[in-house]
This record gives sequence, C-alpha cells and structure tokens, in this order.
Amino acid sequence: MGKKALKPFNEAVEYLFKKTGARPEAGIVLGSGLGSFVNEIEIEFEIAYEDIPHFPVSTVAGHQGKLIFGKLSGKQVLVMAGRFHYYEGYSVEELVFPVRVMKLLGIHTILLSNAAGSVNPHYKVGDLMLINDHISFFTPNPLIGKNIAEFGPRFPDMNETYDRDLIAKAKAIGLTHGFDLHEGVYVAVTGPTFETKAEYRFIHIMGGDVVGMSTVPEAIVARHMDMRVFAVSVVTDLGMHDQAVSHEEVLQAAKKAEPKMATLFKELVAVL
Ligand code: HPA
Repeated sequence: MGKKALKPFNEAVEYLFKKTGARPEAGIVLGSGLGSFVNEIEIEFEIAYEDIPHFPVSTVAGHQGKLIFGKLSGKQVLVMAGRFHYYEGYSVEELVFPVRVMKLLGIHTILLSNAAGSVNPHYKVGDLMLINDHISFFTPNPLIGKNIAEFGPRFPDMNETYDRDLIAKAKAIGLTHGFDLHEGVYVAVTGPTFETKAEYRFIHIMGGDVVGMSTVPEAIVARHMDMRVFAVSVVTDLGMHDQAVSHEEVLQAAKKAEPKMATLFKELVAVL
C-alpha cells in the first residue's frame, strides 16, 4: 500500500499538530444527547471539522461538529463533539477517518459513547451499559477494501474488542458512586429507522442487549490499529415495550444520563 494511502490522514494530522501542538493520549467520542460533556474539559483548542483537511462534516440536528483539544483529569484528551453516522450518507470508510487521525496523533485509548435502545428486560431508561462485545452483521465493515497495512493486519482479531481492564476500572467507578453499570452486547444497525417490533425481538433473541446506529465501525478500526477501546451505551428507549420511539425522546434520555457518563469518563481518564 505505501505512503499514498496515508496521505490524507497525514495531511489532517499535520494540520491539527500545526494548529495545536497537542499530543493527546485519549480520544473521546460523544454520542447523541451527550454533547454537554464538553463542559468537563479544560478547553485549549476547538477546531471545526470543516476546517480540517479530508474530514467529513456532520449534518444531524443535536450533533455539533468540532474537535476539542484540552485537559480532562489532568490528561491531554481529544474530544469529538459530534460523530459521523452511516445513515447520514457517508461511506463507513469516511466515518472512521477521525479515529485513524487520532491514532496518528499518538492516541492509545478511545472512549466511545452512544445512545441506544434496550432489548434487555432488566434495563431501564437512563441506565448505562458497558459494551463488552458487539454484533456487526447489519452494517458494512469499515475495513472492506484494500488493507492499509500501516494501520493493521488484513484479518484483525476481534476476540477482545472492548478492553477488559477498562471495563473492570469502570465498574469500580460505578460502585464508588453508587450507580449500576450493566455489561452487555451492542448490536449495530444502519438506521435511520428505529426498529420494528419484530426487529427488536430478533435482536434480543440473537444475543443483543442494546441496539444503536454508531460506535461499532469506530471500535473496529481502533482495534485494527491496536488501540484500547472502551464504549458505553446510554439506554434511551425500551425496544421490547411495544412503544413508539422518537429522536427527541432519545436526546432527552441521553441528556438526563449525561452526568453519570461524565463522572465515568472523567474518572476513567484519570486512571488510564
Ligand atoms: N434503535 C436504534 N438506535 C437507537 C435506538 C434504538 O432503539 N435508540 C437510540 N439509538
């Protein structure tokens, strides 16, 4: 493959490094309704996606589109405020571009968050679930196409996509603060439709706990590049309850759970 495949990534990295001089060690991706987490960051630089060479640009209401460089718990972090989704019309390859840029900036650990519908009868709206595995059969794999060997192998292992040590640390943080953290399987779908009743039932039967429209492509490319991956879902709706779901309801539920998510990320970054 050689240098040519890396050119767009290197150009984005060069631009960001020139602007910030920053060497963040953790990357954080904020899901729907979780944008106020940026208030936790001691912000040093904010860079709009549209200013970064080769970056896709976000289109969905409720999603901002900027990279935030700053400090969290005394560590240099890079926050993606607004992520890219397959349902917006990007190719999967485009939507994982920022994760590859993170790796080239020197980031070793990525923390992903999302809003998700639950198909686990024990989960309630507002609960957090640590993702310990995923099912990705319904969405295209972001590694389809020529392998970029500089990033990782042609056939990457996915046996332990979500770092067990980080899950254990997160559980300890939940215990300290007295909030329950479920652990379970995230099923990735394309959206933008929410699921039919039959689809929610199927996702439950196939072994899923929650379902959502993001996160997995990012987790796959991050593991391809041997980054440590941690991911958490906020349960925003209950798929097995025969109720209509709306985007507003998802955003509101995520917003309410955001303080727990913020505590979790802040304390986790402190012990990376
Ligand atoms: N299904 C898919 N994606 C979602 C859901 C859901 O029920 N809730 C939030 N994102």
